[in-house]
Amino acid sequence: MQHRETRALCKEKGIVVEAYSPLTHGKRLGDPTVAKIAKAIGKTPAQVLLRWGVEHGLVTLPKSTREARILENASIFDFTLDETAMNALDALDEGRATGWDPRDQD
Ligand SMILES: NC(=O)c1ccc[n+]([C@@H]2O[C@H](COP(=O)([O-])OP(=O)(O)OC[C@H]3O[C@@H](n4cnc5c(N)ncnc54)[C@H](OP(=O)(O)O)[C@@H]3O)[C@@H](O)[C@H]2O)c1
Repeated sequence: MQHRETRALCKEKGIVVEAYSPLTHGKRLGDPTVAKIAKAIGKTPAQVLLRWGVEHGLVTLPKSTREARILENASIFDFTLDETAMNALDALDEGRATGWDPRDQD
């Protein structure tokens, strides 16, 4: 759920945006496109998703209960994603809420 309109508005107004559940709650770490990009650059799918957020200027706050994953998730500042990879990841938007959806009024 990439919220492009909201992100564009926030950028215009100088508002910092957090990528809520930046690892898709773990639900899309097996996505084939993400896996392909990760394999090509020698990173993990989680690192690719987090780097995608950083490249877009988002604050990413991943959650993990495991030390190895916390270290893995923090190691995303020694590589970049090229335009082809960014475009491929941008194209994966499903509009899928992993948690509370602010559009739900109930
Ligand atoms: N979503 C919510 O409802 C909610 C509410 C309030 C606050 N937050 C905050 O928002 C942030 C995001 O948390 P989130 O749980 O919603 O979503 P998330 O960070 O997108 O995903 C967390 C899930 O991914 C797994 N994971 C983490 N690192 C991984 C890795 N490197 N490889 C494979 N799996 C990995 C975690 O499992 P393991 O723990 O087993 O590693 C957990 O199941 C956190 O800082 C949280 O405190 C979220």
